[in-house]
Amino acid sequence: MNRITPRGETDGLYDRVRHLVPEMEWETFVEDIRAIEALKRERNAVILAHNYQTPEIFHCVADIRGDSLALAREAQETDADVIVMAGVHFMAETAKMLNPHSTVLIPDLHAGCSLADSITGRDVRLLRERYPGVPVVTYVNTSAEVKAESDICCTSGNAKRVVESLGSDRVIMIPDEFLARNIEAETGIRMITWAGHCEVHERFTPQEIERMRADHPGLVVLAHPECPPEVVAASDFSGSTAMMGDFVREHTGSRILLVTECSMSDNLAVQYPQTEFVRPCNMCPHMKRITLSNIRQSLENMTHEVTLDPELASRGRRAVERMLAI
Ligand code: 13P
Ligand code: SF4
Repeated sequence: MNRITPRGETDGLYDRVRHLVPEMEWETFVEDIRAIEALKRERNAVILAHNYQTPEIFHCVADIRGDSLALAREAQETDADVIVMAGVHFMAETAKMLNPHSTVLIPDLHAGCSLADSITGRDVRLLRERYPGVPVVTYVNTSAEVKAESDICCTSGNAKRVVESLGSDRVIMIPDEFLARNIEAETGIRMITWAGHCEVHERFTPQEIERMRADHPGLVVLAHPECPPEVVAASDFSGSTAMMGDFVREHTGSRILLVTECSMSDNLAVQYPQTEFVRPCNMCPHMKRITLSNIRQSLENMTHEVTLDPELASRGRRAVERMLAI
């Protein structure tokens, strides 16, 4: 997670993103960036941006940037009156759960997630009936309703620690089947899984990685743990988006393939220009619903406010806070 100083003008910002954003496009961004900075001051607002946001959002208007875990922690700690989530809906719900007194906005209500859409609270209750006494670990990429039915949450950054903290030889780990299998391989703890997949990461294949290795000698391959286990096995390192960022920082100058969403390499390329980022990547259509223009509208009109049923929020918060305490 990094902080950038809020600024009142756009001078110097273009230098950060000049190799990614053509000058003509930048001209269309400048007005939105200025308006967003003014609105942030007026509303006492902060913008939290996930690592998969496009560079003009990530490097030019975000106040707090990071993976799902860092954004949850920062949402809990901020004393801003308004939190704008430049991310997807479950992240905004998590922010609201952890900071019920702030107004939480998401610029596009349809910024969803294939994992969050794969499971309901009722599904979790049925799993509990089928496997009585087995602890339920829920990935944060889920609705508040699903979190409310869970014992504890996890992110890709702490899943191993969370699962090991339970002291159980069997865990219900939902809804990401691949994350569960990858953590099972790391911990030896037996996983009862759900057939949810990330539509971005499920598309990568080991053959694609092998082809890239043949074409790019010395390539270091980093895969997100939402990838299928055979893709993780074909990689050199696996971790959350923040862990990938740390790895790149510690190996500047390498030739790197990030097996994840496209903006991840774009954003790291701004920070580490000496590193060569090799593609391919896949785009998350949900993350890409967030734009400078709808962030500006969100702050102008205070839309779309994310609200939660208080009882549901309090049960979901318990599972998220238990995770944050680990
Ligand atoms: P992390 O940033 O927590 O690794 O999560 C990736 C993701 O897919 C978020 O939607
Ligand atoms: Fe969901 Fe995958 Fe998009 Fe992340 S990248 S928001 S897990 S669909």
